[in-house]
Amino acid sequence: MRISVFGCGYLGAVHAACMAHLGHEVVGIDVLPEQVQRLRQGQAPFYEPGLDELLAQGRASGLLEFATAPEAAATATVHFVCVGTPQRKNELGADLSYVRAAVDSLLPHLKPGDVVVGKSTVPIGTAEQLAEVIRGAVPGAELLWNPEFLREGFAVEDTLRPDRFVYGIADTDQGRAAAAVLDAVYATALDAGTPKIETDMATAQLVKVAANSFLATKISFINAMAELCEATEADVKSLADAIGHDDRIGRRFLNAGLGFGGGCLPKDIRAFMARAGELGVDQALSFLREVDSINMRRRIRMVDLAREVCGGSIVGRRIAVLGAAFKPDSDDVRDSPALNVSAQMQLQGAYVTVTDPKAIDNAAKRWPDLVFVTAVEDAVAGAEVVLVATEWPEYVGLDPVALRGMVKTPIVIDGRNCLDPVTWRAAGWTYRALGRR
Ligand code: UDX
Repeated sequence: MRISVFGCGYLGAVHAACMAHLGHEVVGIDVLPEQVQRLRQGQAPFYEPGLDELLAQGRASGLLEFATAPEAAATATVHFVCVGTPQRKNELGADLSYVRAAVDSLLPHLKPGDVVVGKSTVPIGTAEQLAEVIRGAVPGAELLWNPEFLREGFAVEDTLRPDRFVYGIADTDQGRAAAAVLDAVYATALDAGTPKIETDMATAQLVKVAANSFLATKISFINAMAELCEATEADVKSLADAIGHDDRIGRRFLNAGLGFGGGCLPKDIRAFMARAGELGVDQALSFLREVDSINMRRRIRMVDLAREVCGGSIVGRRIAVLGAAFKPDSDDVRDSPALNVSAQMQLQGAYVTVTDPKAIDNAAKRWPDLVFVTAVEDAVAGAEVVLVATEWPEYVGLDPVALRGMVKTPIVIDGRNCLDPVTWRAAGWTYRALGRR
C-alpha cells in the first residue's frame, strides 16, 4: 500500500520505518528540513533501539522516502497523522496546532477513497471535528482514529508487534470500508492474532489517555506508599513485590523512586484533566491532580534526601548524577526527573555533574547551566554523593568496589531502586533510597 506519515518525531519516524519494513511504500513528511535530511540518510534524529537499522533497510529497499512538502502525500492512499500534541505554555491543555496544520496541509492532496488515520494523542472531540473537516473538503475521504501505545525504548517492537489495535470508526459503510483498508495495512500483525477493538471515535480517543492515566496512577500509588514507608521504616520494594504477586494488581509499573516523566504521561494526564473540565466532569478526574502532586513531591523529596545525607546542607557539595534521560534506552529528556532534581540541587548551591550514555546532547540544550561529562569515572571523581537517577543497565551493573576508590565519600542514593543495597553496603557504601530503610 502507499502510505504517507505526517510528522517524523518519536511516533512518526518509527511508524514510517516500521510500515516500510512491512512492505508498504511509505513517505514520511515533516516540516523540519534537518529532520528530513537525517532520516533520508537513514539516521534516526533520536536514540531508539533498532530504528537506525530499519531506516537504513527502508532506504536501501527504496520503500521509504522522506520529504518536507505535503505534495509528497499525493500518491498515497492511507495517511497517518503522527504529529506531537505538547502541553500548552502556562495551561494544562494540549496544543493541537500541529495536528490541525498537518491535516490542513494534507487536504489539497486528499482524494475520494483515501483514508486518514489519526494516531496523535488528542483531547476527546478532536477526531470528530477533524472528520467533519475532511469529509467537508473531500467527500469520500474518511478519518479513523487509531491511537498508538508505543513506549520509548521499545517503540519498534511495540509498532511491529503491538499488544492490541484500537480503531475508532464512524458507524457508516464508509467508516467500515476505511477500517478494512487499515486492516490491510496491519495485516501482518492481525494475521498473527493481535487483538483488535473496533469502537466509536470518542472511545478510541479516550482509550489512550485512560491507559496513560492508569499507568501514571499506578506509579504514583506506589510512590505514595513510599511516603508511608519513609514515615514507618517499612520497605517499599518488598511491599511492591508482595502486592504485585496478586494477579489483579501485578508487579509491573510498581517501581517506586523518582517517579514518571517524559513527553507523554505528565502532559497527557494534565490535558485529560483540562478536557474533563471543559466537559463539565472535572470531579471525575480530580484524583489525577493528586497523582501529579505525588509524582512532583518525589523530586522535592529527592533533593531533601541529598541534603540529609550531606548532613543538612548541599551548598558546595559535589554530587554526581548518573542519568539524564527520563528513562533508560532513550535520549529523551522532556520532563526528566533526573534533570529536574539535578537543576534543583545546583540552584540550591551544590556542585552537580551529570552523565548519561545517550542523552547528554539533548540535556545540555535544555539545561545549559548544568555540567555534563560523558564518562561515569569523570562524573564521580571526588563526588561526595552519587545519585542514580535513571536506571541504565550500565549504572545498575556498576561495580561498587571499584567505584568506591573514585569518590570522596561513598554515599549512594538510589533514585530508581535499581541497585542491590546488600552489595553496595558490603562494599562500604552508605546506601539510601526513597521509601526504603
Ligand atoms: C508511556 C506509555 O507507557 C506508553 O504506552 C504511551 O504510548 C506513551 O507514554 P513512555 O513515555 O515511553 O510511554 O514511558 P514509560 O515506560 O511509560 O515510563 C514513563 C515514566 O514512568 C518514566 O519516567 C519511568 O521511569 C517511570 N516509571 C515507569 C516509574 O517511575 N516506575 C515504574 O514502575 C514504571
